[in-house]
Amino acid sequence: MACNTDSGKIIAKSDHFKLKVDSLLNIMTLEEKIGQMNQYNGFWDVTGPVPNEGDAEKKYEHLKNGLVGSMLSVRGANAVRAVQKIVVEESRLGIPLIIGFDVIHGYKTLSPIPLAESCSWDLEAIRKSAQVAATEASAAGINWTFAPMVDISRDPRWGRVMEGAGEDPFLGSKIAAARVHGFQGDDLSAINTIAACAKHFAGYGFSESGKEYNPVDIGASTLHNIVLPPFKAAVDAHVKTFMNAFNELDGIPATGNAYLLRDILKNKWDFKGFVVSDWASIKELVMWGYAKDNKAAAKIAAIAGSDMDMESHIYVSELAQLVKEGVVHEDIINDAVRRILTVKFELGLFDDPYKYCDEEREKEVIYSPKHMDAVLDMAKKSIVLLKNDNQLLPLKKEGQNIVLIGALANEKNSPLGSWRIASKDNTAISVLEGMTEYKGNNLVYKKGADVTIGNTQFVNELKINTTDRSEFKEAIDAAKGADVVVMVLGEHGFQSGEARSRTEIDLPGVQQELLEEVYKVNKNIVLVLKNGRPLTINWADKHIPAIVETWQLGTQTGHAVAQVLYGDYNPSGKLTMTFPRNIGQIPIYYNHKNTGRPVADANNPNLVFWSHYSDVENTPLYPFGYGLSYTTFKYEGLKVSKQKFSCAEDITISVKLTNSGKYEGKEVVQLYIRDLVAKVTRPIKELKGFELVNLKPGESKIINFTLNKHNLGYYDNNGDYAVESGDFEVFVGGNSQSTLKTSIELKQVLY
Ligand code: BGC
Repeated sequence: MACNTDSGKIIAKSDHFKLKVDSLLNIMTLEEKIGQMNQYNGFWDVTGPVPNEGDAEKKYEHLKNGLVGSMLSVRGANAVRAVQKIVVEESRLGIPLIIGFDVIHGYKTLSPIPLAESCSWDLEAIRKSAQVAATEASAAGINWTFAPMVDISRDPRWGRVMEGAGEDPFLGSKIAAARVHGFQGDDLSAINTIAACAKHFAGYGFSESGKEYNPVDIGASTLHNIVLPPFKAAVDAHVKTFMNAFNELDGIPATGNAYLLRDILKNKWDFKGFVVSDWASIKELVMWGYAKDNKAAAKIAAIAGSDMDMESHIYVSELAQLVKEGVVHEDIINDAVRRILTVKFELGLFDDPYKYCDEEREKEVIYSPKHMDAVLDMAKKSIVLLKNDNQLLPLKKEGQNIVLIGALANEKNSPLGSWRIASKDNTAISVLEGMTEYKGNNLVYKKGADVTIGNTQFVNELKINTTDRSEFKEAIDAAKGADVVVMVLGEHGFQSGEARSRTEIDLPGVQQELLEEVYKVNKNIVLVLKNGRPLTINWADKHIPAIVETWQLGTQTGHAVAQVLYGDYNPSGKLTMTFPRNIGQIPIYYNHKNTGRPVADANNPNLVFWSHYSDVENTPLYPFGYGLSYTTFKYEGLKVSKQKFSCAEDITISVKLTNSGKYEGKEVVQLYIRDLVAKVTRPIKELKGFELVNLKPGESKIINFTLNKHNLGYYDNNGDYAVESGDFEVFVGGNSQSTLKTSIELKQVLY
């Protein structure tokens, strides 16, 4: 029996600019309208195939003729002013450009990569981090970011997991909304806010075998319950734009996918903003074998609902003719242009096209002390303590001989990650620099080995793998007498990110060997990981007493890592992506299905025919939601206010949390449910709530969660939200494998 559910219709947005948009549209020629749907890259940075020669001249001509609505990757107040001046002063209608840029985790002052930030589970900190990014970018002429990326992914082979919020749609939705609010603020016309863009719509994180740009072949249940919720959350947070994706979804490329763009996004969700294609993805419809030529690609993409063409140069060359031939109705063009112009009005660009070009403000806010503090705070909150046997951490502050090993310990570039186009090279505080500030110990640094030879920004890893072990000996000799060895190992900054799929996700190069060699002479090792994706670190987990996941933490990396290692900050991060034991377990994620054979049959001597691998356990190395602290937490007294409840009622789940250790610390208390029987089978656990709780040693607090029918439903295979009565299990704890549980029953409601 189904409960009554809300329609899910979002509150109608203001039509404040409708009259202005319509009157402008009335005086535009068809070519000028199509011009608004055309976006060009600046003449320098390129994140896709390099444009042809003569490109710059053509772009300049088009700008003057009102045939460009947006530029991407033009940055800096001066440069944006110059390009804006061309359209404002030389084109017939002087419609200002909207200036887009990949402000992914900061403009110049960089926060941690988004995957790392998600491990803080701290929505307010994440919102502030996006606000810092918007403040800097908006001073440098930019008024639109291609973020947040809200793609859920279960495959750490895929390099872009670094850019998302991990594997869970509930947490991913909360973070999507926090980032949209951070970028857009309450008032889009304010000088320090910019339009956000939910990307990549949709399914990109499920690229087959984790290989970049591969097809996506998921079923309706995964699409509606896992992939789409964070996009819907972004719409509900009033995100202004969407970007479509490079992938196809079940045979239909996302860029030409009317089901996604029209039926779901623009009709069902009533999204009022505009959709930009991904880089040249309209042209790529031809390569997919979905359009026979550029003209067909333009037709398909426009009709499907891609409003703006990023760098395919196809709308501008093909659409007018298609309209004249009656193949594409002018209403399609009008709708796209209305959407684009509305966002420009909302940004205030028609009042002052140069309002984001303020050289003074640019100087003042970029790399400002306030921003440095903000990204340091975010960086500390993003660190996850994976293992800490015998309380090797925190390090003692005095009288210790500490040997620091690893090329990444002395790196000022890798910690910036791969999305740092505007940031100056080598501007991160290295771990070595951060640790050197603690003067009470004797600190010796040895490289031991490189990760790769040179950087992988534009080079395939295969060409730059290192086999050089010549500096092993020096590092091993230094480690011999040390009280503690801190080894900073992991991935180079450009080993994750777009087009950085990997089939092995262990420590690259000779780093694993180095770790094992050092371990032979000194077992007191703290392994500090720097990486953009979960890694397979089985050996380290078995042998190394302390492991800290620090990801790529941005500008303040070294300070954040040192403060955590020395205990000036008690780590509180929890993983948002499962760490597999080996590559063969992928995709491995906490919210999986039970299967018909979840456990071995104890009565059957032949323990083979159940859902498992013959050569590795079913469990991951570290589960979703997992992370330690220097203190310990005790959960007890799980209670439910009412065991049986109706569709109209709220119930409260409460638990007592005690800090049972010696340090003040923060815990992410997590609530999961399991819907035991449904018309479409449900996962064995689903996150439905979490709370960050700070407690002094010995302190306790009762944590309450509210549940009602809204938390207990799911999307059926038509994409409709369904709530079914029946039994649910409720779990509360510090990670997705916590076993403290109770049960509830949602009573049947008869209409
Ligand atoms: C990426 C997008 C990005 C765009 C512009 C593409 O290659 O997939 O996420 O926003 O380039 O740089």
